[in-house]
Amino acid sequence: MTVAVITIDGPSASGKGTVAALVAERLGFHYLDSGSLYRLLALYARRHGIDWASEIELAEAAANLPVEFSDGAVWLEGNDASQDIRAEEIGIGASKVGALPEVREALLQRQRDFRLAPGLVTDGRDMGSVVFPDATLKIFLTASADERASRRHKQLIGKGESANLPRIMQDIIDRDARDAARPVAPLRQEPDALLLDTTELTIDQAVDKVLVWFEERQVSGH
Ligand code: DC
Repeated sequence: MTVAVITIDGPSASGKGTVAALVAERLGFHYLDSGSLYRLLALYARRHGIDWASEIELAEAAANLPVEFSDGAVWLEGNDASQDIRAEEIGIGASKVGALPEVREALLQRQRDFRLAPGLVTDGRDMGSVVFPDATLKIFLTASADERASRRHKQLIGKGESANLPRIMQDIIDRDARDAARPVAPLRQEPDALLLDTTELTIDQAVDKVLVWFEERQVSGH
């Protein structure tokens, strides 16, 4: 029997990570935040003087990336990198390294290895289209750009970081454009993905919606 997978793809700051992690918790499934792999690679490159455009060097680094997910943290070369990978600058780097086809290829199997019983919930940009095309349930989770910028702004203020709303908005627009325009695995809603617009929804409402859809899939048998 194949292991169930729920894929949640969507743009940055849409809340897909929070929703995916909570769905995984409610179902007792494993969780893969695929963006963290791209962020880890960008951070690794920065620390080792590898340019974010050096495709061959980056692909090699991606294939051998010394990372471990344990104790609720992400470890890069033995050090807790959970905070560092969340920096806005590293998010931009992740989007740049993620545009390179060789890098995506090198990370493919690594992501598929997370598919373990009893099931997996994963979030990213190409989880349903490329990494898990046979997923049980595929969702495209989004929210308006205004709403996403305001959520990211609140999040940064909450962490005590300085935040400038117009700049965040511009970063979100630029990142969406880069993620959607790249020739490999672009950000877009696939025809077999269900649209979940969270602009007007709370996190709990979004989580419940995913759980209901998953239940329906289980009942209907596909
Ligand atoms: O989901 P996130 O914001 O942590 O992702 C950071 C960047 O990584 C995103 O702008 C594009 C890239 N990414 C990707 O190309 N493919 C994925 N499956 C996940 C993230």
